[in-house]
Amino acid sequence: MLAALERRLGPKGFTRDPADMAPWLSDWRGRVHGQAAALLSPANTDEVQAIVSLAAENRVAIVPQGGNSSMVAGATPSPDGHALLLSLRRMNAIRSLSVEDNVAVAEAGVILSDLHDAAAGIGRRFPLSLGARGSARIGGLISTNAGGTQVLRFGTMRSLVVGIEAILPSGERFDGLSALRKDNRGYDLRQLLVGAEGTLGVVTAASLRLVPAIGARAVAWVGLADPHAALTLLRRLEAATGEAIESFEAMPANALAMVLRHIPGTRAPLECAHAWNILIEATAPSGAPDPVERLTGLLAQAAEEGLIEDAAIAANEAQAEAFWKLREVIAEAERAEGPAAKHDISVPVSVVPDFLIDARAAVESRFAGTRVVGFGHLGDGNIHFNVLPPPDVDGKAWVEGEGKAVNAFVHDFVGARGGSLSAEHGIGQLKLAEFARTAGPARLHVLRAIKQALDPLGIMNPGKLIPPA
Ligand code: MLT
Ligand code: ZN
Repeated sequence: MLAALERRLGPKGFTRDPADMAPWLSDWRGRVHGQAAALLSPANTDEVQAIVSLAAENRVAIVPQGGNSSMVAGATPSPDGHALLLSLRRMNAIRSLSVEDNVAVAEAGVILSDLHDAAAGIGRRFPLSLGARGSARIGGLISTNAGGTQVLRFGTMRSLVVGIEAILPSGERFDGLSALRKDNRGYDLRQLLVGAEGTLGVVTAASLRLVPAIGARAVAWVGLADPHAALTLLRRLEAATGEAIESFEAMPANALAMVLRHIPGTRAPLECAHAWNILIEATAPSGAPDPVERLTGLLAQAAEEGLIEDAAIAANEAQAEAFWKLREVIAEAERAEGPAAKHDISVPVSVVPDFLIDARAAVESRFAGTRVVGFGHLGDGNIHFNVLPPPDVDGKAWVEGEGKAVNAFVHDFVGARGGSLSAEHGIGQLKLAEFARTAGPARLHVLRAIKQALDPLGIMNPGKLIPPA
């Protein structure tokens, strides 16, 4: 089979060279290491179809991979070395952009920031963004139902995907690209593939919703004393500005300190340290009143009332970018800080403020010496709740040992509040055991039944997402 694949894909699309393969065999945080029989980089959908058909015939596993920026090792093959690693990197064409449809058709390997640029070129934008936008690719963003920093207004990837082209595990091609706003032909296969983590087929292209380009934006950095005040502020800003608030990101003092410590060229926007920092972005369409003035007025009023302690509004685009950088590099700063027990949880938004205070206190008192850094998408109820090991232990060993008990403790804390142990990063390999422990029989039954129906041979990204029976 490998010889047939090599013939079909040619030297650009097929390699077994260990040096070529090495960067794609470990996850972004360097926690999980795998092996593969070959790295396949098809140039088009026909080649993906040929690969999947051959793999099905030979009962060989396929691990689809985009930018390899998964936070849960969802694109890392298992160490046995049997699987084919299928990189969508070369399929990076934007097939079309339509102002009338407000839709872009992008192949799975398109890098998110390239799609941003292309949409801007026609006076539109693709309203999903995240720190890894320079490397994350459309296929992976779809397969993980990515979130990011504009979910508050535009939803996750799920609400932005209007069509999908994919190769199913049987080798059949699903042509679902036409961007229908309404289509009620029963089960929605497009939505089934969103968030499937490559377990139900290989997404090769997608039709994606565009929105009008921004006319102007206001980016503010706010210091305040506690997360209850933050949520009050969010709801007040939303009520006063309608649809304008796109991002509302929360960082405790220790998250900001970590960024300042590890990321060169960063500096705190406010004079004094505050227990909580909020990054707010408000936008307006072109021709509408400037959002800077409105946000400045609303924040001044909040300061007068004592709801917030201090605020700075970016005076220009460079400053706005600098504020955003402080938020977007937290994951990178954490990686530099060293191993941690990481959680990507969601709870109802109303519960977030108490959760941030109570869960941190509970963890730090139950696991002596640990420090909680909980930050993220407050307005979405999604917190990246990371627990650093005590300073005097071997961090890697701690994550695999006591860290597991921390995982269970945090997930039970979240479960008791009606929350989820994966808000936006997916299950992959790293959350699999905890997902199996907490999912409940009905959810597991449906998940396995769908998997069995579409991929009876179990060749698509095995060992991810679906807890073994
Ligand atoms: C973020 O919001 O910064 C990302 O989801 C990454 C992380 O969890 O650290
Ligand atoms: Zn996030």
